[in-house]
Amino acid sequence: MKASFALFLPLLLSFCSAQIPHWGTCPEPPLQPNFVLKKFLGKWYEVAKLPAQFEKGRCIETNFSMKADGTIRVASSEILKGELRTLEGTGIVEDVKQPAKLGISFSFLAPYSPYWIISTDYDKSALVYSCTDVLRVFHVDFAWILGRTRTLPAETIEKAKEIFTNSNIDITKMIASRQQGCDKEI
Ligand SMILES: *[C@@H]1O[C@H](CO)[C@@H](O)[C@H](O)[C@H]1NC(C)=O
Repeated sequence: MKASFALFLPLLLSFCSAQIPHWGTCPEPPLQPNFVLKKFLGKWYEVAKLPAQFEKGRCIETNFSMKADGTIRVASSEILKGELRTLEGTGIVEDVKQPAKLGISFSFLAPYSPYWIISTDYDKSALVYSCTDVLRVFHVDFAWILGRTRTLPAETIEKAKEIFTNSNIDITKMIASRQQGCDKEI
């Protein structure tokens, strides 16, 4: 317990510097009913996000695939200062009764961060939410709109924002991700 808190702390501090924490505990948004992980696998582009300090690059995309051991391979990439950077993490379903609640870790030292699929049609867009309670006094959260394409129609983004807002998730600081000039030579 003590050890895991010590490992958690640096992550927490980086979260705190990246995001203004909200008072109270995490909201409990409704998640995608009957979520089917298999249909969610493959490549997703980051279309919009609540600003996250650890993601400064552009052309951010993530490819989810199953590993032989039943965990999820999470391969992300971004272009930062003209260079393609890749990052590989591991995803798990912590409770089979709640299949839309994934946990993702980008280092075997770090705990799994929540990665909840709030809504998805599997072939166009997905809404993802991550929230961590801090001492049950405040919480820090992240939200993403993902697309199977680098950009999504404005109506889709509006609808996505409505779903977040209706779930008590404050997305007023959400910004569009930079997905321009990604397919050219770097
Ligand atoms: C995603 O990763 C899997 C496993 O490495 C690979 O087979 C697949 O081609 C990748 N998909 C895309 C779209 O890059």
